[in-house]
Amino acid sequence: MDKTQQFIQENKQRFLDELIELLKIPSISADPAYTQDVYDTAEKVADFLTKAGADNVSIEETEGFPVVYGDKIIDPALPTVLVYGHYDVQPADPIELWESGPFEPVIKETTIHPEGAIFARGSADDKGQFFMHVKAFEAMIAANELPCNIKFMIEGEEEVGSPSLVNYVKNNREKLKNDVILISDTSIISNDQPSINVGLRGLSYIEVEVKGADRDMHSGVYGGAVPNPINILCSMIDKLIDDKGHITIPGFYDNIIEPTAEEREELAKIPFDVEDYKKSIGIKDIQGEEGFSTIERASTRPTLDVNGIWGGYIGKGAKTVIPSHAYAKISMRLVPGQDPDDITQKFVDYFPTLAPNSVEVKVMPHHGGKPYLLPTSHKGFKAAKKALSETFEKEAIAERGGGSIPIVALFEEELGTKSVLMGFGLDSDVIHSPNEHYGLFNFYKGIETIPYFYQYFVQE
Ligand code: BES
Ligand code: MN
Ligand code: MN
Repeated sequence: MDKTQQFIQENKQRFLDELIELLKIPSISADPAYTQDVYDTAEKVADFLTKAGADNVSIEETEGFPVVYGDKIIDPALPTVLVYGHYDVQPADPIELWESGPFEPVIKETTIHPEGAIFARGSADDKGQFFMHVKAFEAMIAANELPCNIKFMIEGEEEVGSPSLVNYVKNNREKLKNDVILISDTSIISNDQPSINVGLRGLSYIEVEVKGADRDMHSGVYGGAVPNPINILCSMIDKLIDDKGHITIPGFYDNIIEPTAEEREELAKIPFDVEDYKKSIGIKDIQGEEGFSTIERASTRPTLDVNGIWGGYIGKGAKTVIPSHAYAKISMRLVPGQDPDDITQKFVDYFPTLAPNSVEVKVMPHHGGKPYLLPTSHKGFKAAKKALSETFEKEAIAERGGGSIPIVALFEEELGTKSVLMGFGLDSDVIHSPNEHYGLFNFYKGIETIPYFYQYFVQE
């Protein structure tokens, strides 16, 4: 891989300039105002793949935003790696909290990134990360050192739950056939401690409505005698988690595959300073489920969180009113063993039982996603560990990611292959938040590491 590495060193600035072009397009999949931008981004990704040397590049229509496909099959007898990523991004709001425009990428130094980091929506999640694969591929092609077959599949709907991807994958099983799937859309522990995500949490997302009277009412004339849906919704939500931090939905913890003692030991090795953690996000104290460490709470344990709650008067000044309706969006992160449909049904059955007879409760499930686990005995894990350990000059460790990439479990069901989550971001990159950024160290280290993954995977 010497020539590949040399090509990378010689083209660093151009790689960055190209990423900046990609980051300038606001490919927000959730907001219909940006539909054209999402399509434009797909075009650009296809262009980059072609220029890098991919064959069969195509923008594949789906029921929603297109998937960009491209491949290089050098020898059918060699292993095939499918690279997955997403070119869509989260909405930028609250926009006023960005120090520079979310789609006007700038490079700034930070304490964690003395080499500089690129600030833009999508820089770490996931444009900056999938782009590393395009550039690593380009370098291997240019150096004539590509050791296996590669297929790229970069989608445009990940941030809205990949609704069209299920059918796309089902309809393209042969085309997507592979020996392993490689994804960079997660984080490492720190720039001094490489890690591989061997797990992802699943998701069950639900919206609820509590309805009281037919109309908003004067809170003096009626107050005290009629149900207040907001008060009731708050007390219902409060009952969902007990004072030990356990979720009270009957059967919620059934079937969970607990991490082995070995895995818990491995997790305990992750360097973690609670004071730094609190400081980094501006909280006075941590909290969570009794009996588990912060790292476990945020990765191996399931959660229930209100993502939004509204109703009543929220305009300026005061209005004395009893609202007729209250709403909340609630998400549950699930861990291996839990099934999103099953958990959603348990919530649907349980939540209304927490309400008094005075109100009507509606429960509306949104998207879900299955959790995922990669055994450390898998060839792909071993190859990733070797590759990371080589370029970071430090042994990579296994950890679980707290976030979700629902398509990963679907890939396993439909294509029968495992995904290796070799991400290069940091939790402090503030993905989904204002001032998202991606370290230049991480961007380049990723490009340098990826070729070794292929090399070691072929050798495994
Ligand atoms: N890249 C993230 C997922 C992630 C981040 C996993 C960090 C592990 C560590 C992905 O783009 C994402 O945001 N996923 C959503 C899924 C949802 C939209 C279905 C999530 O986790 O909320
Ligand atoms: Mn992502
Ligand atoms: Mn995301």
